[in-house]
Amino acid sequence: MPEVRRYGAIAISQAARLIAAGQPVAVPTETVYGLAADATDLDAVVRIYAAKGRPSFNPLIVHVADLAMAESLGVFGDADRSLAAALWPGPLTLVVPHRSGSLVASLATAGLGSIALRVPAHRAMQALIAASGRPLAAPSANASGGISPTRAAHVAASLRGRIALVIDDGPCAAGLESTIVRVVDGRVVVLRPGPVTAERLGEVSGLPVVDASDGPIIAPGQLASHYAPVKPLRLHATEFAADEWGIGFGALGGDDTLSGGGDLTQAAAHLFDALHRADASKKPRIAVADIPAVGLGVAINDRLRRAAAPQG
Ligand code: TXA
Ligand code: MG
Repeated sequence: MPEVRRYGAIAISQAARLIAAGQPVAVPTETVYGLAADATDLDAVVRIYAAKGRPSFNPLIVHVADLAMAESLGVFGDADRSLAAALWPGPLTLVVPHRSGSLVASLATAGLGSIALRVPAHRAMQALIAASGRPLAAPSANASGGISPTRAAHVAASLRGRIALVIDDGPCAAGLESTIVRVVDGRVVVLRPGPVTAERLGEVSGLPVVDASDGPIIAPGQLASHYAPVKPLRLHATEFAADEWGIGFGALGGDDTLSGGGDLTQAAAHLFDALHRADASKKPRIAVADIPAVGLGVAINDRLRRAAAPQG
């Protein structure tokens, strides 16, 4: 088992020492727990991929302290800057051209000409960036193909024996990975829906917002099956069979619920935790209530579709 240490000055200095030594550390963010390592250290980035068992063509999000640090690594246009000014720190990742001469290891960006950047809002990830003084590459802290972790216990179970330290600061507030966008030709292209909704992106940018998830694969994370529970999963349920672990929403109850009151923010925060519990239950299959595809419901439905897609 990795050491699980409560968030605080001791945990952060221990984590910063591991980062300086080129080791990955699991740390909470406002979205999900991340597996962070020094993005400028090639060997450290290799260790992230190794710990996750992740195919190496999948590029990572680089977490930075602020817009200035982001602009030292990526080339920002006006629209990128206005999105960053309004929504950072927070659950938004901007894909921009990778600045030439940036020290980020090319493996972290999978050698693409672009780089995915985010300023996280969570105190633990912020403290770790400050203490290590480095941009931190961090994918979700789960074995590749597994369900994203929203609690320290999920990380410890998924990456058992593969990492040294998990910083525990309780469950993640948003519970879904960041919204990923790229500004292309005066439009905001959503590469991965997430906690920042299309409506909000349109408001702050004043630009049209388009969804790339039905188009060609631009973000490798859009591979159909990505956030998979082990058991078969049925979506849009209006009732549950006896052999199904029912995950309800609103009026439809079950073995568990995403939100009894039908609240989408609460449902997003509970989603991955509910899938972890469903996998651990005694029932052979899982069914999830219909979730309205509006606002944050778009991102919830995106993750559910991927979780239900057959393993490729
Ligand atoms: O909320 C989050 O974003 C979490 C926390 C830890 O920050 N991180 C996360 O990372 O979800 P990960 O590695 O599981 O997902 C990164 C996604 C992948 O779908 C990847 O394909 C996409 O970001 N990505 C990274 N760099 C990219 C780039 N240059 N162009 C397009 N997509 C990129
Ligand atoms: Mg992931």
